Amino acid sequence: MQVVIVNSAQEVATLGASHCLKLITAKPETVLGLATGSTPVALYGELIELQARKFLSFKQCSSFNLDEYIGLDPSHPQSYRHFMNFHLFDHIDIDKNNTYVPDGMSDPKRSAVDYEEQIVTSGGIDLQILGVGRNGHIGFNEPSSSLVSRTRIKTLTAGTIADNQRFFSEDEFQPSLAITMGIATILESRKILLLATGVSKAKAVRDLVEGPLSASCPASALQMHNNTVVIIDREAASELEHSEYYQQVKLETEQLANNND
Ligand code: GLP
Repeated sequence: MQVVIVNSAQEVATLGASHCLKLITAKPETVLGLATGSTPVALYGELIELQARKFLSFKQCSSFNLDEYIGLDPSHPQSYRHFMNFHLFDHIDIDKNNTYVPDGMSDPKRSAVDYEEQIVTSGGIDLQILGVGRNGHIGFNEPSSSLVSRTRIKTLTAGTIADNQRFFSEDEFQPSLAITMGIATILESRKILLLATGVSKAKAVRDLVEGPLSASCPASALQMHNNTVVIIDREAASELEHSEYYQQVKLETEQLANNND
């Protein structure tokens, strides 16, 4: 796991976007794994900008989102399908027919199985973008999720429901169930970028990077993945014990890259 600490949330987005740019340039038919939540919104803004400036095209890309609420129609403003259209797909040249979000409406059990198959048929996810919940969840894999789980239905914790309440108006139905890629599904991605910003994520970041491998912090499963980059701002890094070491690795990696130029 590579831990990269940068100065601001904007730098998290810019660096995240540069990883995407590099990969999509090398492989135009990249299969992206995408996340919702506030954290990746700035990254999506950067990607939109890169495409507008013709540095990047998503024409041959496809994408799989991590999760979706059960009981929200894709047209619902709080559905993750709607979120993705609004924050990314409506502004880039990706073919929307090649963008997949789990179907939380018709038969979620069936669609979970189908989703796994669709990912395999696509050739597997090349680059998975992740945020992290305050309790260490990735996707909607709440604490106690099996570390070998596949796409399935999960019950959201009271904390996660409260954290996401800000997206719903007072009288609006807020689901307590979701369909989410499993942890094993996520770990099969060839590369993973986890982004976290702000002090509210500091404990989750500490647990995922330095804590024990444990279902109590589902994101700690990323310790078992051999190509994960964790990009965080100083606030999210504030509880890390070994941040000096991560900074040193970052400097040396940059120096090595410069020497090879
Ligand atoms: C939701 C999503 C996660 C996301 C998390 C954190 O629960 N299912 O994929 O990482 O929220 O969201 P935010 O970035 O808004 O803190």
